[in-house]
Amino acid sequence: MISNDEIRAAVKVLKSHFWASGSGSGNVKKFEEFFNTYIGSQKSLAVNSGTAALHLALSLCNIKNKEVILPSLSFVSTAHAVMYNGGKPIFADIDPVTLNIDPNSIEEKISKNTKVILPVHFGGLSCELNLIQKLCKNNDLSLVEDAAHATGSLYKGKKIGTHGSIVCFSFHPVKNLAMPAGGALSLNGKNSKKFEKSIRSLRWCGISNRKGVEYDVSTLGWNYYMNEVSASIGLVQLKKLDNLISIKKNIAKRYLDELYVEKMPFDKNCSYHMFWIRVKNRKLFMNKMTQHGIETGIHYNPIHKMSFYNSKQQLPNTESLFNELVSIPIHANLSDSSVSKIIKYANKFS
Ligand SMILES: Cc1ncc(COP(=O)(O)O)c(C=O)c1O
Repeated sequence: MISNDEIRAAVKVLKSHFWASGSGSGNVKKFEEFFNTYIGSQKSLAVNSGTAALHLALSLCNIKNKEVILPSLSFVSTAHAVMYNGGKPIFADIDPVTLNIDPNSIEEKISKNTKVILPVHFGGLSCELNLIQKLCKNNDLSLVEDAAHATGSLYKGKKIGTHGSIVCFSFHPVKNLAMPAGGALSLNGKNSKKFEKSIRSLRWCGISNRKGVEYDVSTLGWNYYMNEVSASIGLVQLKKLDNLISIKKNIAKRYLDELYVEKMPFDKNCSYHMFWIRVKNRKLFMNKMTQHGIETGIHYNPIHKMSFYNSKQQLPNTESLFNELVSIPIHANLSDSSVSKIIKYANKFS
């Protein structure tokens, strides 16, 4: 949901002629500070997408020829980030009630070659972080969280982004906090200073030791820094975020009370980036909803089924569920009457 505030903020940056971060208008730095305060993590660093955040996060974990355990039911960037770093994605199954990665399945997949567990907080509903952290501790593994859906979500009373040592966010236009493009890494724990130093260099082509116009390049980095226009929009969005999430929670509560189909659980800690339901004949359901002007989506076709991954791993819950999953609208612009219409037709055609 954008208003004139975002437009004014973006135009101000455009007119300033300072569009790149570090070039003068200061929005990226300010966004990092405000986002970090909002989350309550030790440090937050901005990048230009959630994909970049995941790529950088895993680049800190030395996963070359090592295994990373992740869910298959996610956007493909979660697995691509493993591949970019020369790691091997090992897909674990999901819990059929939450669609989050199942800690029991993670445990079954841990081998002597495993290096990282990479859970996704699906739809904004937190994973069982305590259990996953215990698995990491007992097996000497790193935890990198894909919190692309979970900006503003909570786990045990604290924001997602404060529990793990590296947490990756996306500010893609459809996300809870929207920018034209953007992402962030939140860092916690004993390695956060070391990670911060590496990310600062890696997100800008490996540049280090800048003194005025002089600098060195000490490693191979990428062009992943956030631009000032995105950050200026993000700063406005951040102010509205809790209000937008509370509107979405009210919609989710109505879906819980009024939809008859099997659906995403209600949890007051969830930010409801999306809302999924299960229907037997997905294609027919989606066609009927479209005929009544209601947009639906598929999140996701499992990554292990994609021809690039084509993994033979056995994931019974993922495989039996994915054909039935449909996302229905949940955003802060939906009026009560639109929500009523969605509920009416979802109940009729499911
Ligand atoms: C679970 C998940 N991980 C990672 C990403 C990648 O984020 P971005 O689109 O900002 O690169 C997305 C975005 O759609 C996502 O949904």
